[in-house]
Amino acid sequence: MALVKIASSEELQPGQMKRVQVGDTDLALYNVDGEYYVTSDLCTHATASLSEGTLDGHVVQCPKHGGRFDVRTGAAVHLPAFTPVRTYGVVVRDGGVWIDGDEL
Ligand code: FES
Repeated sequence: MALVKIASSEELQPGQMKRVQVGDTDLALYNVDGEYYVTSDLCTHATASLSEGTLDGHVVQCPKHGGRFDVRTGAAVHLPAFTPVRTYGVVVRDGGVWIDGDEL
């Protein structure tokens, strides 16, 4: 496992999210009640950045058509989105938020 640091663990407050680019991959990083989650930033319905939407609990709403995804599982939970978004494992340690670069 090749861990890649994608953010400082202090960077996001609970309820916040941001886009993180790792190589050619755009990811969305979420802080939900102090727990971090990472998904692909690209909505599976069409072309939109999930991190530009809104985060309500564990559910991110796409800014384009309102599709919603559970950031824990990637499951699409509201139409028009029906295809899950990819999720990534997260490790928080040494003041950083890390993902497994081999997953990219
Ligand atoms: S682009 Fe995200 S719901 Fe349509």
